Amino acid sequence: MITENLQKAINDQITAELWSSNLYLQMSFYMEKEGWDGAAHWLAKQSEEEKEHATDMAHYLIKRGGEAKVSMIDVVPEGWGSYADVFENVYKHECHVSELINGVVDIASAEKDKATQDFFWGYVREQVEEEATASSIVDKIRKAGDAGLFYIDAELGKR
Ligand code: FEO
Repeated sequence: MITENLQKAINDQITAELWSSNLYLQMSFYMEKEGWDGAAHWLAKQSEEEKEHATDMAHYLIKRGGEAKVSMIDVVPEGWGSYADVFENVYKHECHVSELINGVVDIASAEKDKATQDFFWGYVREQVEEEATASSIVDKIRKAGDAGLFYIDAELGKR
């Protein structure tokens, strides 16, 4: 049985994942409006992935005898500026999510809950990939220049 404290931490993380999902969906709509269909597609997929993270965490919590909750999700920002601005914000957000995940591992560790530590270590590792992917897109955008953005957008559309 999971402790109340850990249940709250996981439910907070579920809320954060759903907020991330909405953030990326909002970014996707923005890029679609700007005419960047590849980026819009990539961000819509990212939004789906975040919802899967929330669902995965909820299933885990329920399996451990806890109660998973969908809390109120705060409004996400809108209006993002340039192509580079959007993906710089994706990268910054993923770094923030990594800190949140580390925080859940810390609580699981303090509660001596090995299974939850193990489960969230999976996310610690996944965050390495999420940060690296976003960072590499930012690098490519910086190097590409305006004309190169069409190539990058086509690549992102293949996700
Ligand atoms: Fe659920 Fe992008 O981290």
